Amino acid sequence: MRDDFTRFEMEYRWAVQEILTKVSILREEFLQLHRYNPIEHVNSRVKSPASILGKAARRGVPPSLPAIRKHITDIAGVRITCSFRADTYRVLETLTSQDDVRLIQVKDYIAEPKPNGYKSLHAIVEIPVFLSTGPVPVIVELQLRTIAMDFWASLEHKIFYKYDREVPGHLRDDLKQAADAAEQLDLRMEQLHHEVHGVHGRSDLPVGPDIDNDLLERLWQLSLDTRPETG
Ligand code: GTP
Ligand code: MG
Repeated sequence: MRDDFTRFEMEYRWAVQEILTKVSILREEFLQLHRYNPIEHVNSRVKSPASILGKAARRGVPPSLPAIRKHITDIAGVRITCSFRADTYRVLETLTSQDDVRLIQVKDYIAEPKPNGYKSLHAIVEIPVFLSTGPVPVIVELQLRTIAMDFWASLEHKIFYKYDREVPGHLRDDLKQAADAAEQLDLRMEQLHHEVHGVHGRSDLPVGPDIDNDLLERLWQLSLDTRPETG
């Protein structure tokens, strides 16, 4: 059982490596071809056995490897932080158009944000890992977002756990507004990017309202308040 579990975990690690290789090739190729890098940074993780078993129990999934493999789709996770919103769609599209990547599900929380303001483009994909015994299909969760969305999500995550999943109402409102400010920032940056690259007067880009400086200041303050205490 222990050996089986080690093997199981390794398969997810290898699948993550496959995706990371694909992402790094895309990044380099983009730079070469377009002198432009749409990917700011990439993080990945494989869930710990305790966390996999905990989630299986919560979801009523039997504690067998085949059942877990089938029903727990976020054992392997890769988060790709892009420069601009359009890049998140472009990178996902490029990845999933590759022959060995099978797209299982997309959840577009950019087009339809969660009620708390969370935005990201999520996809569940399946990718083969080629072992001596043949290919093994492995499921990986992809999360694509902009830097502003990532900043918001990491702040919300800290606040969520700081308040033990019961975020007080006033902070919930602040977070919701901060999500709007992050969106304004994304729109502005995207416009600026197009201006710098000589694409003037693009009518398909909505003109964002002025960025609320007080709100940005509060967002900054909030992020300082939730930093881990030192000393
Ligand atoms: P989980 O069981 O939590 O994985 O959620 P799910 O199966 O309903 O999938 P969903 O696509 O909603 O969320 C998957 C992952 O996205 C989560 O594990 C988080 O990493 C991230 N995520 C989703 N909602 C939020 C949110 O409100 N705030 C933050 N910070 N992250 C979120
Ligand atoms: Mg998850």
